[in-house]
Amino acid sequence: MIAHGGRPCSIGHIGERALDTPARIFYKYEGTSQAGSHKPNTAVAQAYYIKKEGFKRVTTETGAGQWGSALSMGCAFFGLELKVYMVKISYSQKPYRRVLMETWGARCVPSPSRDTEVGCRILANNPDSTGSLGIAISEAIEDVFAHDDTKYSIGSVANHVLLHQTIIGEETRKQMEMADAYPDIIVGNVGGGSNFAGQFLPWIRDKIGGKRPNMRVICVEPAASPSLTKGPYAWDYGDEAGLAPILKTYTLGHSFVPPPVHAGGLRYHGMAPIICYLHKLGFVEAKAVHQIATFEAGVRFARAEGIIPAPESCHNIKVAIDEALRCKEAGESRTILIALSGHGHFDLAAYDEYLSGRLQDYEYPEELVKKALADLPRMD
Ligand SMILES: Cc1ncc(COP(=O)(O)O)c(C=O)c1O
Repeated sequence: MIAHGGRPCSIGHIGERALDTPARIFYKYEGTSQAGSHKPNTAVAQAYYIKKEGFKRVTTETGAGQWGSALSMGCAFFGLELKVYMVKISYSQKPYRRVLMETWGARCVPSPSRDTEVGCRILANNPDSTGSLGIAISEAIEDVFAHDDTKYSIGSVANHVLLHQTIIGEETRKQMEMADAYPDIIVGNVGGGSNFAGQFLPWIRDKIGGKRPNMRVICVEPAASPSLTKGPYAWDYGDEAGLAPILKTYTLGHSFVPPPVHAGGLRYHGMAPIICYLHKLGFVEAKAVHQIATFEAGVRFARAEGIIPAPESCHNIKVAIDEALRCKEAGESRTILIALSGHGHFDLAAYDEYLSGRLQDYEYPEELVKKALADLPRMD
């Protein structure tokens, strides 16, 4: 492990023995941050600027609860009040994330909630709605419209969030230099895209500029919510109710509610426009994987490295293992870098489902996506 610049994170070099592969495997771990993931990199900065602009209160959405926790901590540092709309399925799957937020002084409600018109409308149509990040964002924005002293803060997708997260890749470059290594393959999970873009953007300039034309950047998403691999590249809203600006994105439709996979941070209909554009140009690849296979990979990683990865991070571990085994078959040595976005200490119920054989996969909900895509904004 090499700590760098005082930021609580680490880089590790693993697993070749466990996989019996000639590949060299590195992982950059964000789970040593106070909130357990990469999210404080932007949460603390956003809370600082919101305070500086004179606002007293903040609203936000959270999927798995990692972002809500990080922003709760950031707001505690600067004396800001925070209300978090947490996707309902995650609110029940990960109750201790709520307690973490409350410990840092935030208020956390399940979304859809009865506190906003958007939430009431969705509950009237479907009282059993499990919620989505798109719905939670709409609720947080509606709340801001109703309060002059309040600012909305977003945890992913937007360019400024990706920019804050590039500390991850900048730091990894320095750390790998110390190990005299350079990645041939970089693998990360993408929900809104912030942790992985934060890792790969500082490298991809070498690919775009022609210094490393063969470097591969692989974005991994859930097969149940596959925006990059199945969605059209189109203009769409960032939230369910259309209160947020439209973005050019690979999308499953802003009204799509993804199946309740445990990787709550990856249950989003769209993707960061910067990643989408790079994918469109062919600089980054995308793969979709089912959740049982991701937990299988996560458990394998935990037994080799000791770290219990977040369900989101298990996605890219699965693909990294596949690539390492491909190296073994081909007898090739490649350097693989895994963007390990967080720990899974609050996700043990999900691990329990996996270990006891109760975890299920969800097929790509094609009909629901088709329906949601009919709601894309018209651009003519
Ligand atoms: C641990 C972890 N990894 C990944 C993500 C996905 O978000 P992003 O794509 O913005 O990094 C989340 C989001 O909540 C997360 O908590």
